[in-house]
Amino acid sequence: MIKSIRGTRDLLPPDTDLWNRVEAKVRDVFARYNYHEIRTPVFEDTALFSRSVGEETDIVSKEMFTWEDKARAQSEKAQSLTLRPENTAGVVRAYIEHGLDKKGTLQKLYYIGPQFRRERPQKGRYRQFYQIGAEIIGPPTAGSESPARDAEVLEMLATLLDQVGLRDWNLQLNSVGCAEDRTRYNKALREALKPVVHQMDPDCQRRAETNPLRVLDCKVPEDQPIIEKLPKISEYLDEPCRQHFAEVRTMLDAVGVPYSINERMVRGLDYYTRTTFEFTHGGLGAQSAVLGGGRYDGLSESLEGPKAPGIGFAIGEDRLILALQSQGEQPAEKIQAFVAPLGAGMNKHALNLAHELRRACVAADLGEETFRLKKSFELAEKAGAQYIVIVGENEVAADQFAVKNLTSGEQVKVARAELAGYLRK
Ligand code: HAM
Repeated sequence: MIKSIRGTRDLLPPDTDLWNRVEAKVRDVFARYNYHEIRTPVFEDTALFSRSVGEETDIVSKEMFTWEDKARAQSEKAQSLTLRPENTAGVVRAYIEHGLDKKGTLQKLYYIGPQFRRERPQKGRYRQFYQIGAEIIGPPTAGSESPARDAEVLEMLATLLDQVGLRDWNLQLNSVGCAEDRTRYNKALREALKPVVHQMDPDCQRRAETNPLRVLDCKVPEDQPIIEKLPKISEYLDEPCRQHFAEVRTMLDAVGVPYSINERMVRGLDYYTRTTFEFTHGGLGAQSAVLGGGRYDGLSESLEGPKAPGIGFAIGEDRLILALQSQGEQPAEKIQAFVAPLGAGMNKHALNLAHELRRACVAADLGEETFRLKKSFELAEKAGAQYIVIVGENEVAADQFAVKNLTSGEQVKVARAELAGYLRK
């Protein structure tokens, strides 16, 4: 038997009802903040990711699904293509390619879709997963660099998570400074690691060599005392970055979004500058980050685009759903009515009635005339219907129908003209 590939999964009803409910709420919130949807391809030129996310990151060095696309003609070179491991790079590519900077305004763009990383699958970590993300990007003259954008993004996230019903999230905030700050900080980390690195776990040692910043993310318990003593990024921020971060925090305090500063939160992508953040949730276990994001002021230029500072985030939708389910969120969308034909020749009358009800915005399902009444009741209950509507010969003749409330057990007769209104109540 052919099975789904390791790290991928089928999303089935009733879970998909919860996915759709979350996506509908999120689209509604995005619209209220003047974001508009962007849809980019799920595969791109490999170079896009190596140049933006960074050659030395785990994502690019070991987790991408990459293949050589066959050349179609002899004159053509084979092209290296990659399934997108994230979507900020694709959005910034599109921003540059379509000259969106010429509009002169901030572009507020959101996306919902699958991403692909060849990670070791576990709860909350998949090889095909879904992100709900957004980016604000634009020329500095449009205010794209302002700390007000950072605060607005974080306030929107707090509102968005509240509105989808997630409770008890934690916002962890950090500033990774500008590229020069990070160069100085990386140098300081290398210096500080030199005398102690040989005592560390092999994986942390490898990080110390390739990307010292990632040492801060090492989880090995024995290495924690060493990591705690390493220099702090806050000591290496230049004055404009320090000021920018202070203003972000002042605005978050003013709007009442709670956060904690976590100087060890280094994000696994190289394009970040200044503000970085993650929202975590206790119901998720080891993969506790529901979402991550931050500012990427130099990304457009590193892709040969215009100066276009930006900030954004991506919610791991799989994890958001897991977190909601850990709180007992019910997935199933209930239908209002189950229309049960009773006896020979009743299917067409029941179909007709269901047709009218559905057009009048009643969510209804339909039974079958050969079923006994007992079976129709069982099906109505399985479908989670609030009411069962019986369509028998007498009902059709009188043009009024027996309606039973499946929770209270109350049964009444309702005329056809009033039926939709009654069921919608
Ligand atoms: P990221 O932190 O790599 O950032 O991913 C964002 C979120 O996607 C994570 O917090 C997590 O919830 C989810 N996620 C990542 N990998 C997996 C996986 N294998 N399985 C399930 N969920 C996963 C980015 O992708 C950046 N593009 C975010 C961003 C947008 N920064 C600025 N703009």
